[in-house]
Amino acid sequence: MNLKNTPIIHMKNALFIALSLPALWIFWQWAMLLLGQPNALGFNPVETTNRFLGDTAIRVLLITLAITPLRDLTRLAVLTRWRRMVGLFAFFYVCLHLSSYLGLDLFFSLAKLWKDIVKRTYITFGMTAFVLLIPLALTSTNKAIRRLGPKRWARLHWLIYPAALLAVLHHYFMAKGFQIMPLVHGVILVFLLTWRVVKWAKKRYLATLPSKRKENII
Ligand code: HEM
Repeated sequence: MNLKNTPIIHMKNALFIALSLPALWIFWQWAMLLLGQPNALGFNPVETTNRFLGDTAIRVLLITLAITPLRDLTRLAVLTRWRRMVGLFAFFYVCLHLSSYLGLDLFFSLAKLWKDIVKRTYITFGMTAFVLLIPLALTSTNKAIRRLGPKRWARLHWLIYPAALLAVLHHYFMAKGFQIMPLVHGVILVFLLTWRVVKWAKKRYLATLPSKRKENII
């Protein structure tokens, strides 16, 4: 079916633009700063940038995880088509977040980065989350799904849950004093993970039943 000019494609384009806005906003603020114009980066632009990109990364990651439950609730199969794009945006923001830290904070010193990974627990968690997301981004193509087979591909993509958990821990251990946002992200993640585990357990249970009983339950 030709999807060109259908509302579904327009909605996907709108979602693409919406997910690009945080990156455009931060680039715009930096352009203003470098041109000596008023901007929203405050007295510590590097910290503001890194935190803004970290917050965006974790939120887009959680949105990616929310797509399947949302599809189950609304029965809108089209949501599945958007999941890959949203997931790649999450990875994009993680990459920008890491780049801003490495470039603006550490002046591209890999030695300093390594020291941080070894010394600071929250950086260890953040870096591990990043590493876990790499195979997911690399296998996000249709070709990779065909090559791995849908079952192995799906199993590999469960890695998004430990990655998200490590990202939440990264945020929690980074925060000085009590901060509500790491807890809010943690609660959302536990809810989304529980949803998937219950769904998976139900599927396994149904697979053990004879088809007559299965029809009655569904
Ligand atoms: C999945 C990967 C990651 C996610 C989702 C993520 C997310 C976050 C979040 C939400 C924050 C807190 C922002 C705030 O307080 O408003 C943060 C802070 C931070 N992240 Fe990450 N992060 C990730 C990976 C990394 C990596 C790989 C590094 C560096 C190696 C890193 C370095 C930092 C640093 C240095 C801060 C603290 C900034 C400050 O104190 O000003 N993060 N990150």
